Amino acid sequence: MFTTERLILRPYVESDLDDILRLWNDPVVQPFVTNDNVTVLGPKFKETLRTQMERATFGAIIALKETGEFMGQGLVDVQPKNRDGTFGICLLPKFWNNGYGTEATKFMIDHSFKWFGLNRLSLGVFANNARAIAVYEKLGFVIEGRKRQAVWMDNRWEDSLTMGILRDEWEKQH
Ligand SMILES: CC(C)(COP(=O)(O)OP(=O)(O)OC[C@H]1O[C@@H](n2cnc3c(N)ncnc32)[C@H](O)[C@@H]1OP(=O)(O)O)[C@@H](O)C(=O)NCCC(=O)NCCS
Repeated sequence: MFTTERLILRPYVESDLDDILRLWNDPVVQPFVTNDNVTVLGPKFKETLRTQMERATFGAIIALKETGEFMGQGLVDVQPKNRDGTFGICLLPKFWNNGYGTEATKFMIDHSFKWFGLNRLSLGVFANNARAIAVYEKLGFVIEGRKRQAVWMDNRWEDSLTMGILRDEWEKQH
């Protein structure tokens, strides 16, 4: 288990799957985290969530340090040969815009470079997700690619972006 100033990053336990399912069923959250149809996700989807958490190199439940309340999840999947990690994060909307996303992402970036020996960290984000892009750019990710009209969302096409930060760039920040 790890802690930052205001957060706990801990392993998931079986009972967290209900909270993660609630997170993924949030109509504001789900469109930003899936390439699949936006719909209601039943208990069977917990198997997908369990696999996602268990397969991740660093699959953490993000909780509020003060109360232990479930906030969301953070994931880093490492591809060892290329020393490349893929990052993802998702928080319940009630916690947005308080700097928590930045705090958790910063910890997971630092930890991944320091402990997994990564050369780069990558992520995918939809171009209309301005809040997430602001967090990633603030922490040193740059846009590396744009797949045009890749996502059908709310009756229109959105582009899908790939972003990355290299070890050299991360080291320069420290
Ligand atoms: C992305 C996410 C983790 C960010 O978490 P958060 O706690 O809201 O982030 P923070 O409060 O640390 O930072 C948000 C930043 O976005 C900025 N922001 C908010 N709304 C914005 C908008 N519409 N346009 C541009 N920037 C915006 C804020 O000003 C803040 O930047 P600042 O600290 O420089 O002022 C969270 O919104 C989330 O879980 N979203 C749903 C899932 C998701 O989109 N995951 C990422 C998929 S790639």
